[in-house]
Amino acid sequence: MQVSATAGGVLETDVLVVGVFQGELGPSARALDEQLGGVLSELLASEEIRGSLGEVTKLLRHPQAPAPLVVAVGFGERARLQGAGARRAAAAASMAIAPRPRKSVAFRLDLEPSLSAAALIGAMTGCAGCDLHRAEKKLHPFEQLHWDGLDAESLQQASVIGEGVNLTRQLVNQPANVIDPEQFAEVARGIAAAGGLECEIWDRGRLEQERCGSLLAVARGSAKEPRLVILRHAGAAADAPWLGLVGKGVTFDSGGLSLKPSDSMKTMKCDMAGAATVLGAMQAISALKLPCNVLAVCGLVENMVGPDSYRLGDVLTARNGRTIEVLNTDAEGRLVLADALDVAVERGASRLVDLATLTGACVVALGHEAAGLMTNDEAWCAEVKAAASTSGERMWELPMYDDYGEQIRSEVADIKNVGAGRWAGAITAAKFLQEFVDDVPWTHIDIAGPAFLEGKPGQINGGTGAGVATLVELARRAVR
Ligand code: BES
Ligand code: MN
Ligand code: ZN
Repeated sequence: MQVSATAGGVLETDVLVVGVFQGELGPSARALDEQLGGVLSELLASEEIRGSLGEVTKLLRHPQAPAPLVVAVGFGERARLQGAGARRAAAAASMAIAPRPRKSVAFRLDLEPSLSAAALIGAMTGCAGCDLHRAEKKLHPFEQLHWDGLDAESLQQASVIGEGVNLTRQLVNQPANVIDPEQFAEVARGIAAAGGLECEIWDRGRLEQERCGSLLAVARGSAKEPRLVILRHAGAAADAPWLGLVGKGVTFDSGGLSLKPSDSMKTMKCDMAGAATVLGAMQAISALKLPCNVLAVCGLVENMVGPDSYRLGDVLTARNGRTIEVLNTDAEGRLVLADALDVAVERGASRLVDLATLTGACVVALGHEAAGLMTNDEAWCAEVKAAASTSGERMWELPMYDDYGEQIRSEVADIKNVGAGRWAGAITAAKFLQEFVDDVPWTHIDIAGPAFLEGKPGQINGGTGAGVATLVELARRAVR
């Protein structure tokens, strides 16, 4: 998909998309309305078009129209519009257009720049489907996407983020028999080579040498070899701060001996979304040549049942020396992250963010509409929130009171890998992770809800790439 700025003036395009607001037309829509002899304003007055968020109306072959297909997409009340809504509505417009292949699609949405950037990401994702293995695709990415309303730099940035989001989505949507830890690492190697990133891949032997006992325990039930991927974007002086991004990459989560029921297991190819998000962001950060230092660590395993599976009651020694009593093999993500976080700390990350589809409890708390944030440093978390909000991604902080930490104390080891019961499961998981970040300012992003959608009509289902835009924005802000 080639994304370019609309040169302004006359444009030959197959499809023209204009934005409309509740009861109101912006400047581009008004210009089009005049050209069409007032059709749009009439439709709006008669409430045939209401301009509600995500509403899509097609005007086919209007004789005065500048394109064979004109699409009006609603952005709701102008004053209430935020990045998340802009992204969602633009995606809905793309989804309505993309069932047929399109050479050229032009968007004129009348949005202010930050909303426009979020919308461009939505437009790019809305035309790329998740039917990777269907002969007949339901959606076709546009050959050319013309965008109006962003300066060259912002356009470049948003479109590179859009590519990163689509990479993440594609990785998440690939089934676990296609993307296993080794395959994921090879994809990372390719992306590193293309973007000039330093890349280090640890295999089982190296993981053993490095005493990654926590990550390796999870891998024991699987026939697939584990991996740990370290990527470095050295965009600033080596002694400048390093932003550390850590991702959970469980390519399939069966639950292990604490086996999941079928219904919960069905979508567990998505359990490497944290690692895929980190990789999508690193692709964008390197393509944009951001003048900052970023270190990425992805822990990659498959959580399966096998003759050598790790057991309930086992005591593991993590890379940082902490001993862990395993009381549920389905709480594997935190075990993988424990060692990955320790590597990031050792490699000198001065600020840490980890992303993980970590807990069902976080989905219970926030649904699929927001990621959960948990931190050991409120100031750093505030920066993550700010980056999320400019990026049009919803993230909501959960408290980390000391009391929650008591739940993971163990009688037989330093800590155990589950809390006392189901309550506050997202937070007790974060309390576990906190044991592995030392004193480095750290924010944990639980993306179990937003990373993967199912049965949401009018939205892109499957992998969403949630978090990519926020990570790139964080790296952009690290430039000082
Ligand atoms: N990968 C799951 C969490 C998950 C659930 C992701 C739903 C996406 C959608 C994680 O490994 C897990 O199984 N967590 C357990 C933890 C529990 C055993 C303490 C959970 O949430 O049930
Ligand atoms: Mn699990
Ligand atoms: Zn998991």
